[in-house]
Amino acid sequence: MYSRFYKPKPRLKTQKEIELLRKANAIVMEILLYLKEEVKPGRNTYEFEEMAIKLCEKKGVKPAFKGYRGYPYALCVSVNEEIVHGMPRKDKVLKEGDIVSFDFGVIYEGYFGDAALTVGVGKISEEAEKLLKVTEEALYKGIEKAHFGNKIGDISYAIQAYVEKYGFNVIRDFVGHGIGRDLHEPPEVPNYGKPGRGPKIEIGMTIAIEPMVSAGTYEIEILEDGWTAVTKDRSLAAHFEHTIAITPKGPKILSRI
Ligand code: MF3
Ligand code: CO
Repeated sequence: MYSRFYKPKPRLKTQKEIELLRKANAIVMEILLYLKEEVKPGRNTYEFEEMAIKLCEKKGVKPAFKGYRGYPYALCVSVNEEIVHGMPRKDKVLKEGDIVSFDFGVIYEGYFGDAALTVGVGKISEEAEKLLKVTEEALYKGIEKAHFGNKIGDISYAIQAYVEKYGFNVIRDFVGHGIGRDLHEPPEVPNYGKPGRGPKIEIGMTIAIEPMVSAGTYEIEILEDGWTAVTKDRSLAAHFEHTIAITPKGPKILSRI
């Protein structure tokens, strides 16, 4: 996290900019929902990379992650104990009972879209079902707190409290973020914290809220490939992300169709 003394200011967006961000994020969610429907046992994770790229070409947008800080692919596909930044692989084949997280972003007219979801492959365990449900609901608990007058810590706390109530743990090493003409802008939006702390939430802020939740420890490891983050105890992890705008009427989910 930032030091206590260095606090870059979030860049507030005009309505026109928010409309462009809405378009970018709607395209991201459209692609994610397409990928979700294509999940079945026997598919390798690289197939989803190809689908995502094809859909970007069709829609005339640029994938946002490819080349970002040297990440080599358009899509992140993280299976089971993989939390985020899993790389698409032809030799990684989905099987019944797996859970798979897709994290995807695009650039539309200079503005970034970013969202993520986790889905089961065929029939999954009760524990996995619960993990997916709690992580997605935690995202909405966070979004509910994202209104003028609150602080970023109110979002963080709502997510953490909800997740821990169900016996799961939030990952600390990755955080949500401001988003706009850059994929990552201030402020950071941690998935743990205290109410009333952190930057003020202001009208015109656009942020990506993205709880990553482990069924076991929140400690992580990065695999040899330098990217894939896994839970240290290899327990299952889920990830849901929406990009939202803070409006006078409250939070507006931009990555929703
Ligand atoms: N949703 C992720 C994030 O907000 C995507 C970044 S993956 C990277 O950090 F490959 F682009 F780094
Ligand atoms: Co993000």
